[in-house]
Formats: sequence, C-alpha cells, structure tokens
Amino acid sequence: MNICVTGGAGYIGSFIVRQLVDAGHRVVVVDNLCKGHASAVDARAQFVLADCGDRTAMADLFRRQGVQAVVHMAAFSLVGESVTEPGNYYRNNFVASLSLIEAMLSAGVKRLVFSSTAATYGEPADQPITEEFATEPINPYGRAKLMVEQALADFVQAFEIGAVSLRYFNVAGALPDGSLGEDHDPETHLIPLVLAAAAGRRDRISIFGDDYPTPDGTCVRDYIHVLDLADAHVRAIDAAQPGALKVYNLGNGDGFSVRQVIEAAQGVVGRTIPTAVAPRRAGDPPVLVASSAKIARELGWEPRRGLEQILADAWAWHRSHPDGYAD
Ligand SMILES: NC(=O)c1ccc[n+]([C@@H]2O[C@H](COP(=O)([O-])OP(=O)(O)OC[C@H]3O[C@@H](n4cnc5c(N)ncnc54)[C@H](O)[C@@H]3O)[C@@H](O)[C@H]2O)c1
Repeated sequence: MNICVTGGAGYIGSFIVRQLVDAGHRVVVVDNLCKGHASAVDARAQFVLADCGDRTAMADLFRRQGVQAVVHMAAFSLVGESVTEPGNYYRNNFVASLSLIEAMLSAGVKRLVFSSTAATYGEPADQPITEEFATEPINPYGRAKLMVEQALADFVQAFEIGAVSLRYFNVAGALPDGSLGEDHDPETHLIPLVLAAAAGRRDRISIFGDDYPTPDGTCVRDYIHVLDLADAHVRAIDAAQPGALKVYNLGNGDGFSVRQVIEAAQGVVGRTIPTAVAPRRAGDPPVLVASSAKIARELGWEPRRGLEQILADAWAWHRSHPDGYAD
C-alpha cells in the first residue's frame, strides 16, 4: 500500500515508518520538524517537509502519491504544556487533524490509523483499563485527542472511510542495536530521564510523590516497547474497515512503579542511579495499566518485550547517542 505517516520524523513515527517499509509498504513521511529529526526517517521512505494541517497541500500530496492510508501521529504531546498553552494543543492536535481528515476525503483516501492516548481516560479508579471505561480526560492534551476520536466516529458514519484509534500507554525503548531511539527536548518521559541520570547527564532522577496508594508509594505505569507498538500499527492499517471506528488500547498489561523502573534500570546499567523525592505533580493518577485484550482478540496483536528489554534497548541508544540525533 502507499501510506502517508504524519509525524514520521518523531520518536514513535520513525519506528512505524521503518516497520511499514519492512512490511512491504511504500511510505511518504510528512513532518514539519517542529519536534522531530530528519535523520530519524528511514532512508527507504520519502520525506516531505510540510504541516499536516495544510489541507490543500495534503490533498495534493495524497493525489500525487496515490496514498491509500494515513497513519496520523503528528501532534504536540507535553501534558503540562497543554495546560499552559491550550490553544496550541487544540489547534495542532484537533484542528489540524480535522483538516487532515478533510484532505483525505477530498483525495479519496479511505483508511486512517490515529495515535491516541491513555490520557483520554483521565483518572480511572479501576485497573486494568479497558476500552469500555469512561473517557474523562483531565487536560487539554487528552481532551484534544478525544475530540479527534469523536470527530472520527462522525466521519466514518458520514463517509465511506475506516479508522482505527490506538490509545498508547507509556511508550519506551529503542532498536536493540541503538541506532534509532527517543530524543525529545525537553524530555519528560521517565525511562529516558532515568537513563540520563544513569549516564551522569542529569544529577538525579526526581520521583514525583512517594505517598500514593500503591505498594511502594510511587506511581504505577504500563510501559510498552516502541517495536511492539509499531507492530500494532501494521495490523491496524489492514483492520480499518469502511463505516467503522475501532478503538484499541496498547499497553503491556503490567504495572511498574517509578521505584521499580529505577531498580530495573540499575540492574541493566550496573550502577546506582541517584534519586530525589519531589512533590506530586498535579493530574498524575496513582495507577494506569492497560488491558490490551481487545486488540489481542481482534487483531492477534500481543506485546513481546517486557520492561527489561525496553530498558536494555533504550540504554543501547543512550550509550551510542549520548546527545541524541545529530540534527
Ligand atoms: N510517547 C508516548 O509515550 C506517547 C503516548 C501516547 C500517545 N502518544 C502520541 O504518539 C504520537 C507520537 O508521539 P512521539 O512521542 O513520537 O512524539 P514526537 O514529538 O517525537 O513526534 C511527533 C512528530 O510530529 C511532528 N509534528 C507535530 N505537529 C506537526 C504538524 N502540524 N505537521 C507536521 N508534523 C508535525 C513533530 O515534528 C514530530 O516529529 C503523538 O501523537 C503523541 O500524542 C505518544
């Protein structure tokens, strides 16, 4: 298939592009490089520097390239920033998505896979979280993603298109050979921050709150290897059926506390990682663990890599790219 990946120069996008090409698809990446890295884009894919919210340019590109499916990953994804700059998040994550969907319609592109998030659930009391749980996001980031899902539900009814929305939990990891990995600025994700502290590039890792109602008092999250996540996208493209929006969680189904992640990282890197307890951050639920039973049942997807593999691969990337990508 001819597939367009928006945000394909970003962390997760770069892995998805690689896996789609490996699966035999022809891929065109659209990224405006507001965050991503051109050198992270697989050389076998075509790269187009553009804003995915430019409806005319995107429709032209879809027609010219004969695009048959879109994987829409381009977005801003800093939860805290979404609270202080909500306009940017609604514009880039919701309005631009709407323009992209309309560009697809005008060019006759019928399949979409959308990068959604566990943040659409908000702070559920029960675990593991299934797709039937109420969606009650607590920040503009989660709300803008949910708004895209809601719009998609209407578009698949009104037009003969099919969409799959994948709600990611905490994505981490790298290629085992360390050649492709996570390079965000600023970095807010726990695993790269822990490894930066392990490498001496940060003084210590802050533990935001150790008085949560969890076994060791620190927040529990579900970590999924970026390669497992990418595999789900290859399957999701085939699963997009006209007239339907399918929603799936993507997680490992295992919860690890912040302290457990740090301990496991110490085992992988073979040294003690300095820590400091800091106050809780607003809007951090105590526990977020996915049930991915639905995608296992319907698409035959299962995660194959656990926390130790995630940490080992991320460490390989950190050691070979201490300053991230050259660009
Ligand atoms: N990293 C995670 O753990 C996680 C969890 C849940 C959901 N997600 C979602 O997955 C997607 C990818 O996340 P990531 O961690 O790879 O982020 P990232 O910032 O590394 O990648 C996003 C890419 O999109 C590009 N981009 C942003 N706005 C654009 C626009 N208007 N036009 C063209 N390109 C644009 C950026 O330049 C960047 O390359 C995002 O939609 C994010 O919300 C990520």
